[in-house]
Amino acid sequence: MRRRICAGNWKMFKTGDEASAFVEQFVESVAQVPANVETIICPPFTALEATGAALRRTQGGIGRVKLGAQNMHWEKEGAFTGEISAPMLLALGVQFVILGHSERRRYFGETDEYVRMKTRAALLAQLTPIVAVGEPLEIRETGETQEYVLAQVRAALSDLQPQERSRITIAYEPVWAIGTGRNCDPAEANDVMRAIRACLDGLHDVPILYGGSVKADNIAQYAAQPDIDGALVGGASLSPTEFARLAKEAA
Ligand code: PGA
Repeated sequence: MRRRICAGNWKMFKTGDEASAFVEQFVESVAQVPANVETIICPPFTALEATGAALRRTQGGIGRVKLGAQNMHWEKEGAFTGEISAPMLLALGVQFVILGHSERRRYFGETDEYVRMKTRAALLAQLTPIVAVGEPLEIRETGETQEYVLAQVRAALSDLQPQERSRITIAYEPVWAIGTGRNCDPAEANDVMRAIRACLDGLHDVPILYGGSVKADNIAQYAAQPDIDGALVGGASLSPTEFARLAKEAA
């Protein structure tokens, strides 16, 4: 069976207590999810510790449900007010980190150059970066989606050796489909994702996730596509029952 990944991006939602309550329910439901599906929860920084503790308590060591973060700085430490580094995430049991999410790019000035430095820093620290790419609506309308997205991918990976590239995960998220309920046609998403895979120089095992208004009711259509290995999920990952149902449907 194909390996599947469902990563929940909680964005700026949930306190530590709310995250612990989520984990209690989610871990129970995940017992019914087929073993080929890996689930990752990416809470805000302030809930990472509580989420990690709840996962260890309920799973006896971090097991099937893994912990991820939503961002990090590229330096290990330094005078960077308000930032968090890879070693700080590792110390909390974090294994994955989303980098270059379109909300970071759009609202916080995250550039391809930052994403490149962060991707390299994450890999050096033995974190798995989930590098997010995707075109805004105006690019989609000009028909230049693939060029735009491939330029983001190439920029993020430009510093990496082939063996480092093989340790990343990519998330393709059309910006206009995020949080809008406006779905990208699965076959169209797959075309972009096939092009991403082709630019990874034979690294066939790099997981490529689709993101943008993915729900339990539509994940199966995406998962049926040959180049879609799973999903990066925002809104639908906030409810333990919905996210568990989504993971089950992804199998
Ligand atoms: P959404 O968000 O599932 O709420 O559209 C996806 C994301 O931003 O990763």
